[in-house]
Amino acid sequence: MKLSSGSRSSQPLRHRATEVIRYLHQRSEGSLPIIGVGGIHLIADAREKLAAGAALIQVHSGFIYEGPGLVKRINQSLVK
Ligand SMILES: Cc1cc2nc3c(=O)[nH]c(=O)nc-3n(C[C@H](O)[C@H](O)[C@H](O)COP(=O)(O)O)c2cc1C
Repeated sequence: MKLSSGSRSSQPLRHRATEVIRYLHQRSEGSLPIIGVGGIHLIADAREKLAAGAALIQVHSGFIYEGPGLVKRINQSLVK
């Protein structure tokens, strides 16, 4: 099953998870390695987590719904 970006069930989680990452990154002044997770289905979602301060990202639902190619697409976009 492939979900369109508009119907992703973890979309509400994505924004809140990013807010928490940003908060923790700011309060810890970047001293904690934060794993960003929650609603990553697109390259832009991964970039959002990293921009908020995540050192790593973890993908669960996106891996299931978008397939393992998502990991390749994200990695390729990050090394460009
Ligand atoms: C069925 C299921 C099993 C999970 N098992 C683990 C686990 O063993 N360890 C862990 O750190 N997170 C686990 N999670 C949480 C996911 O890694 C992830 O944090 C959460 O699903 C939100 O990310 P997502 O929007 O990419 O799914 C699990 C989630 C689901 C739905």
